[in-house]
Amino acid sequence: MKFLKILILFISLQLTAQQGGMWIPSLLEGMNEEEMTSLGSKLSAKDIFDVNKSSLKDAIGHFNGGCTSEVISDKGLILTNHHCGFGQIQSHSSEENDYITNGFWAMNYSEELPNEGLFIEFIIRIEDVTTRVLQGVTSQLSEKEKQSLIDKNSAAINKAASKEEWQGSKIKAFFKGNQYFLFITERFEDVRLVGAPPVSIGKFGSDTDNWVWPRHTGDFSLFRIYADKNNRPAKYHKDNVPYTPKHYLPISLDGVAENDFTLVFGFPGRTNEYLPAAAIEQITQKVNPSNIEIREAALKVIDEAMKNDNKIRIQYASKQARIANYWKKWIGENLGIEKSNAIAKKREFEAKFQVLIKEKGLEETYGSTLSDLEKLYAEFEDVAIKRSNFIEVFIRNNELMHMMFRLYQMESSFKKGEESFNKSKESTIARIQGIHKNYNATLDENVYNAIISFYTDNKDASIYKSTNFTNTNTALEVLQGDAEGVLKKLNDDSAYIYAKPFIEEFYNTINPEYQRINTEINALQKTYMKALMEVMPNERYYPDANSTLRVTYGQVKGYAPRDAVYYNPVTYLDGVIEKYIPGDYEFDVPQKLQDLYAAKDYGQYADSNGKLPICFLGTNHTTGGNSGSPAIDAHGNLVGLNFDRVWEGTMSDMNYDPEICRNIMVDLRYVLFIIDKYAGAHHLIEEMDLVHPKG
Ligand code: ARG
Ligand code: ASP
Repeated sequence: MKFLKILILFISLQLTAQQGGMWIPSLLEGMNEEEMTSLGSKLSAKDIFDVNKSSLKDAIGHFNGGCTSEVISDKGLILTNHHCGFGQIQSHSSEENDYITNGFWAMNYSEELPNEGLFIEFIIRIEDVTTRVLQGVTSQLSEKEKQSLIDKNSAAINKAASKEEWQGSKIKAFFKGNQYFLFITERFEDVRLVGAPPVSIGKFGSDTDNWVWPRHTGDFSLFRIYADKNNRPAKYHKDNVPYTPKHYLPISLDGVAENDFTLVFGFPGRTNEYLPAAAIEQITQKVNPSNIEIREAALKVIDEAMKNDNKIRIQYASKQARIANYWKKWIGENLGIEKSNAIAKKREFEAKFQVLIKEKGLEETYGSTLSDLEKLYAEFEDVAIKRSNFIEVFIRNNELMHMMFRLYQMESSFKKGEESFNKSKESTIARIQGIHKNYNATLDENVYNAIISFYTDNKDASIYKSTNFTNTNTALEVLQGDAEGVLKKLNDDSAYIYAKPFIEEFYNTINPEYQRINTEINALQKTYMKALMEVMPNERYYPDANSTLRVTYGQVKGYAPRDAVYYNPVTYLDGVIEKYIPGDYEFDVPQKLQDLYAAKDYGQYADSNGKLPICFLGTNHTTGGNSGSPAIDAHGNLVGLNFDRVWEGTMSDMNYDPEICRNIMVDLRYVLFIIDKYAGAHHLIEEMDLVHPKG
């Protein structure tokens, strides 16, 4: 009897543990710790997060604000994805020294390459500061007044936070503003490129395989953190030394098997798990389709140009990848929402919620929350689409318009005085130089021609002939001189004259209207969140991702995407060779890798079946920003490197479905194999700590 009870408890824990969730690492004791144990973890909450002694969290760094990275040696060696370090890899590349195509390996410290602007940030401490942030915030205040009080309180808390002088702090809202946490951080700014495989390994399968399983990509790159002589953060200096971390991850050579426990630790960017059906409908049926269309048109032009011109291929590699990534994500997201019937299910759930409100006598407080939200989303629709189209056309896809947008911001800063203008001018110059570093005016003009009609009928490609901003020198020339002179020249520029009315409309009409409704929506989403927790207190609630450190855990598992189809959770080098298309820009395989395959020369990195593992799947709930996150085994060792999700599950940002949502990780043994056998960078392997937890 007792056994049966335990069995039932175990099974139910197993099931609920597959429901997804991105948890706050300082709050794992209680429910999560138990659940993790039921999934096979041998880690305690304190092993993962401890402020008093070193723990796993000390090895996890926010990479440049957008990805995750982890420390893998006592000399500050850092592992992240190839696609996370791609901008840096590209920035050191030229047609002569093409590190994108050939890879890059520093054979000693002196060959490691500095990267201006790149930073890695660690979390020192997390504190719940909800009461202090919400002090004085009453329902009598307007949303605007509430926010300004919250900002004021937050600033005071930040200022008073106890921390070392080299540390930073920030406050973030959780559960839609029902809870606030303070983060004490440490940011390192001397981060050097150590190694990267050729793109044919690091981005094998490219766009065709992106967001797709089965996957065979070695999506990794290596960096190193340098610190000053006291091991503290410092700006780049040649005398800086490799950082000694509080903790680094040992690497398991034993790999994973189906159902093994995995924990993914990182900085997920943004999710929206508590949206009403009306919002999901709007996003998937209105916003996504128009974004997809615009990007599709832009990509057609860019892809064609990249295929035909080697210089353009290198120049636009990073820009193209960024545009293509979310273009494909949105398509998958829409398919998933549709296939899983998510909107209808949400509506059913909302009807149940409505009934419960009545039963619990909470109609007064929450009775109209959902219908009010629905009304607001309806009011939101036109402006949300218009704003999103503007952003796609004027900021994300067309570079000349993007420059005009930045220049307009610069002009606006003049209203705040000369000093503010000069500061803005400096950052605008940097932006424009950044864009021009990899710019092809003809390509950009073709993009303009392909996408402008998605925003306006007023098309005028002649601006490309006469503007100063398609050429680096003439563009910078416009920005020489005092404010008055610069603004005069700017307002004489044909592209600026063309773009300015659109940008003015954006700032004066579209965006304020968007923000007005959005503020109301956010306030109601906050109420809705609170209502959910009150009305259905036994459901699992985890805060939406907000670029803060989170733990997600699950198990290695395959999935069934369609009737009668089951996907195994592990891929092997054999699959790389199966996909090989000689000379293809997506599926070429380097000769050396083919030779190693032919010789089965896998050394200590082979699986117990003699094959070389490449990628594996898990039920960890991840999102953008989790790229580069470590997948950690039951004992705290590194086994995988997170980099993507499966096609059927990209909707997990709005609708996590444990049946089909899977994250994709590179097997660490493939990473080690490439470093060791492919690149011959043995010195890097030597500084790591390789272990055999399975005996
Ligand atoms: N889809 C993954 C993520 O969102 C990987 C993107 C990089 N790969 C690519 N083919 N663009 O970042
Ligand atoms: N590839 C994503 C990233 O770069 C991860 C994901 O969206 O699953 O963070």
